[in-house]
Amino acid sequence: MSHFIAPSMLSANFLHLEKDIELINSSEADWFHMDVMDGMFVPNISFGPMIIKQMASKATKVIDTHLMIEQPDRYISDFKDAGTDYLTVHYEACTHLHRTVQAIKNEGLRAGVSLNPHTPVHLLKDIIQELDLVLIMSVNPGFGGQKFIENALEKIKELKNLIQIKGSNALIEVDGGVNVNNSKALVDAGADVLVAGSAVFKASDPTATISKLKHFN
Ligand code: DX5
Ligand code: ZN
Repeated sequence: MSHFIAPSMLSANFLHLEKDIELINSSEADWFHMDVMDGMFVPNISFGPMIIKQMASKATKVIDTHLMIEQPDRYISDFKDAGTDYLTVHYEACTHLHRTVQAIKNEGLRAGVSLNPHTPVHLLKDIIQELDLVLIMSVNPGFGGQKFIENALEKIKELKNLIQIKGSNALIEVDGGVNVNNSKALVDAGADVLVAGSAVFKASDPTATISKLKHFN
């Protein structure tokens, strides 16, 4: 399987949102990555289901929603109604993670779990078979444009191993500081989905950058 590219709309220009959505629609990107921040789980506040619903109405690709919020169970049906396909919650934000994952799946959505840079991969060993996606954070969540934390590469390899041992179908997604210089190493380590925000939207040619992330040249 070739890997997927998921531009993060957090780095889009919100004064020209429709233009940026069309740019992604007509590019080689595969998914739209939507970063939801509540000012509690992470220091920053971004956007919620209302904005995602409007973006999803114009987007022609998979909608991948990354919830950086406390008590995400409260909003699962809202994000389903907004048109999301994958709904990812943070391991660190869920006391009853198994229940949360089941609630996401019961809504007919694909369920993802994200790990902060300090959270070890082995903590997923008793839930990995239930998951459609694991998101490895390669920066501390909250902001775009941060520097890639190298330890994420080891975590991806460890996760790939866990997925194989357990016979899980989970995709491995990596998020934070991804760019054209590290994309190949990430895919070689086992990443299936590359999220990229500033590398795409701050580039002089976003479409060409997406193509480079996809084909490494
Ligand atoms: C960070 C978000 C990321 C962010 C990535 O908390 O989860 O998705 O938008 O931005 P870049 O690619 O600029 O690091
Ligand atoms: Zn994200």
